[in-house]
Amino acid sequence: MTGNPPARQLTFDAVKHYYGEVLKSSADLQTSACCLADPLPAWLRPMLDDIHPEVRERFYGCGSPLPAALEGATVLDLGCGSGRDCYLLARLVGPGGKVIGIDMTDAQLEVARRHLDYHADQRGYANVEFRKGYIENLLEAGIADASIDVVISNCVINLSPDKQAVFAEIFRVLKPGGELFFSDVFADRRVPAALAQDPLLLGECLGGALYREDFRRLMAAVGCPDVRVLASTPLALFNEAIAARVGNIGFHSMTVRAFKLALEDRCEDYGEVATYLGTLAHHPHAYELDDHHRFETGRPMLVCSNSADMLAQTRFAPHFRISGDRSTHFGLFDCGPVAAVGSPAGAACC
Ligand SMILES: C[S@@+](CC[C@H](N)C(=O)[O-])C[C@H]1O[C@@H](n2cnc3c(N)ncnc32)[C@H](O)[C@@H]1O
Repeated sequence: MTGNPPARQLTFDAVKHYYGEVLKSSADLQTSACCLADPLPAWLRPMLDDIHPEVRERFYGCGSPLPAALEGATVLDLGCGSGRDCYLLARLVGPGGKVIGIDMTDAQLEVARRHLDYHADQRGYANVEFRKGYIENLLEAGIADASIDVVISNCVINLSPDKQAVFAEIFRVLKPGGELFFSDVFADRRVPAALAQDPLLLGECLGGALYREDFRRLMAAVGCPDVRVLASTPLALFNEAIAARVGNIGFHSMTVRAFKLALEDRCEDYGEVATYLGTLAHHPHAYELDDHHRFETGRPMLVCSNSADMLAQTRFAPHFRISGDRSTHFGLFDCGPVAAVGSPAGAACC
């Protein structure tokens, strides 16, 4: 569908129809694809009580893409829907930060905007804005180059007919050292065209699910050769008719992170050591960079050069002590288990 304007428009129209008219609440979903497979961390759950019930009812996310260290950040939520994550993010970035939600579906934006005052009144600050636009063209939505600290998205990119454009736009708008942190549905093989074009499978976030290896290739093409997985949960397809159509394709809801950094395509060993200082809010004992890097407070850990850069050249820098330099190379870094995004022979070993 990429690059074919009529096919793109058909996809946009089908998705708008599904999220604007077919679905009225998350109870209308016919599979678990858009249900939360990666629950909110315990410290965030009390904040949900402050979110307006109508916003919560129209939450169709598949994960919890709400990373740490957001105080003062400018965050962009792609496909914000009714705004649940934006309103949570507003609390996390605080009065010195800013949240911009973008969505193409009027009915979703109408709900999100109608409750702006409700959420602003609670906190005494208005740091959220909702814009109508397409995630494939963020320039049109007024998002300048290198203006965003963190891009998040919750179960949206699978719905795009031009994922390459989406990732290219994300890496255009991120500041150097900025981060893409998103939850989405991924497939363990390429979804055949007949299924991808089925409006129900598309709307339920299955038809457009990215094959993991193609995702890795797309990220490498936009300059990010090392993507990290935080959580991966198999999806249950409760609807038997949908399960029968889908056959052997395995779907996962995954939360992944990717930094705008000049990383290498393999993990290289320069003998660098990272120590977490225990200073991130709500993470006094440990911080998990991904599914195989858990940094205990005060405990030095040998890291590859990519991991060192993710900690030292990003907003995490004040929270880690990194020792070592790149003067001596010790060969490939044994980064432990291969993450779901990369294949054993794949480029991104972390
Ligand atoms: C599964 S819902 C998720 C909404 C929201 N992230 C949440 O967690 O509730 C997908 C949303 O993405 C929006 N969307 C899908 N494709 C889009 C695109 N190409 N550009 C902008 N918005 C899009 C839809 O309008 C819908 O609101």
